[in-house]
Amino acid sequence: MKVPPVNLIKQNARFKREFLGSLEELIESGQFVLGEELKRFEKEFATFLGVKHTLGVGSGTDALVLSLRALDVKRGDEVITTPFTFYATVEAIMLVGAKPIFADIDPETFNLLPEAVEEALTSKTKVILPVHLYGQAAKVEEMRFDGIAVLEDAAQAVGARRGERTVGSLGDVAAFSFYPTKNLSALGDGGAISTDSDILAERIKRLRIHCQSEKYVHEGIGYNSRLDSLQAAFLRIKLKYLKIWNEKRREIAQTYTEALRDLVQTPKELEGNYHVFHQYTIRTERRDELVEYLRQRGVAVSVFYPVPMHLQRPLRDRFGYRKGQFPEAERAAKEVLSLPIYPEMDNWQVEYVVESVRSFFGR
Ligand SMILES: Cc1ncc(COP(=O)(O)O)c(C=O)c1O
Repeated sequence: MKVPPVNLIKQNARFKREFLGSLEELIESGQFVLGEELKRFEKEFATFLGVKHTLGVGSGTDALVLSLRALDVKRGDEVITTPFTFYATVEAIMLVGAKPIFADIDPETFNLLPEAVEEALTSKTKVILPVHLYGQAAKVEEMRFDGIAVLEDAAQAVGARRGERTVGSLGDVAAFSFYPTKNLSALGDGGAISTDSDILAERIKRLRIHCQSEKYVHEGIGYNSRLDSLQAAFLRIKLKYLKIWNEKRREIAQTYTEALRDLVQTPKELEGNYHVFHQYTIRTERRDELVEYLRQRGVAVSVFYPVPMHLQRPLRDRFGYRKGQFPEAERAAKEVLSLPIYPEMDNWQVEYVVESVRSFFGR
């Protein structure tokens, strides 16, 4: 493979000594779950985002589920979200017993269209769940309605901004993932929730430890979902580099855009947004051919996502969603592809990707 999709070995190699140092400290402390290291990470991550609280949990999926539970979403409630996302977004809604209601996307940013969200509102709408897809903030401020909470799915957009505000501080509560390929990643699964609300933070703290109010006294049905102390220690080491890494992603994105904008639809960064390019996603009607061509040349391209959520079997079966309901999402699913982008990419690799795309179009 000339250009892999990510290079985690290279990213983590430079921290090996620090990682091992953290492991040694942890072994000596004997504190493996929650603990001081997690508290330190939560404080530093909250400062980074500019929010009052962050809480470490087991994964990005858990962060969504626990946030929905903290917002008291339950059977009979509706949650409006995008059909063009990773399955975990809608899975979380179904896991708490609520119904995912979809609104179509903007064909240029691939994020939820606020007008479509407004049209989807009903008396049962409890939460609006925008996803900051590929690393770009959605227009959250246009999705605020009285009595309806906003939960951001920020799994792909750590460090992104909308105006002066960071993703994770735009809604009432936000979910992050530290899955190994994310812009800020653990050495395993991990996630976090951010919020300015003391009440939500308290609820989430309880939910992640079996709704325990004091030792062996439980006030509800919760989860076992915590961020390990070791992962928190690793994340503390990497958090210091996140801004530099996101800048590097933006540089690569700019190179791609300048070189490819005459051939394909390149990503559109909304005015005032700071896109962190978790993915660099282009669109073309010749998508399948281009994917095949690039793979043959050793360029790891991916399609995020080939099947929109309303057409996934569990949603068709349970809720009767069908083809044609969200045409922009369906069209995007047929036309998008993501080129490799990660801070450890060498210049020759970026150039090779550009040359490969250009040669496909005979240019
Ligand atoms: C948009 C989105 N939401 C949620 C998740 C779930 O995160 P995790 O894999 O950490 O559970 C992911 C990533 O995997 C994601 O991309």
